[in-house]
Amino acid sequence: MNPLSIEAIGSGKPVVFIHGFPLSPAIWENQRELATTYKLLFPTLPGMGGAGWEPFTIDTLADALATSLTAMGISRVILLGHSMGGYIALSFAARHASMLSGFGLVASHPYADSSEGKSGRLQMIERIRQEGPDFVSDVMIQKIFAPQTISSRPGLVDQARAIMKTAKAEAIINSQEAMSARPDRSFLLVKMKMPVGLFFGAKDLSITAAVQKDISALRPSAYLSVLPDSGHMPMMEQPQEFNATLHDFLSSIQ
Ligand code: MLT
Repeated sequence: MNPLSIEAIGSGKPVVFIHGFPLSPAIWENQRELATTYKLLFPTLPGMGGAGWEPFTIDTLADALATSLTAMGISRVILLGHSMGGYIALSFAARHASMLSGFGLVASHPYADSSEGKSGRLQMIERIRQEGPDFVSDVMIQKIFAPQTISSRPGLVDQARAIMKTAKAEAIINSQEAMSARPDRSFLLVKMKMPVGLFFGAKDLSITAAVQKDISALRPSAYLSVLPDSGHMPMMEQPQEFNATLHDFLSSIQ
């Protein structure tokens, strides 16, 4: 794969933020203030956020990230992945563990798709082939935000919708196929050697409180943050609180 486009700002310990599906680094807008303390690296996944698309799997994205960071002279990072970005981060941890000094999942999980999950992905792919990708942002808005966010914060919802509209149809289809094919990586959360942070929203409709509990049980020593008024997008729904807990986690890593 070609190198990923990666924006770097600030200086200090390098921290990589991988966005989820079908989003872009714009979801991390409120985290840019951490650049006073850390070097922040924001990759853009192919075909999202205005980047060119080329075919990928979760593993080729992880490898492209490792190669791109190395080409920038960066050999060790704290890696954070949001949702699909978390799946890429887990693959990175399986394949390039020596490049990691810390690891975090943001509204993400280590499990493979269930059969219902896989068939939901196939349905989205079929529908895009029939009618194009315009409906995707409407479907995803309902999934990613807490119901209260949707009813009370139309500006934030519009912002997320505009971000999703930048994803190309090929990239949406490819992401669904890539996510569907990924393996279970829960054993990694158990055996990883570096500090692990788990950042959830209490009102996440896809990673429910019960699933969050299962993930935390895999790694009882993890730094755990559950923001009460967030769904799947804690970095946008409660940015101040998210940044405070993130800073707490990052500053604990040597
Ligand atoms: C994401 O938010 O990145 C995706 O919804 C994750 C998924 O579909 O599993």
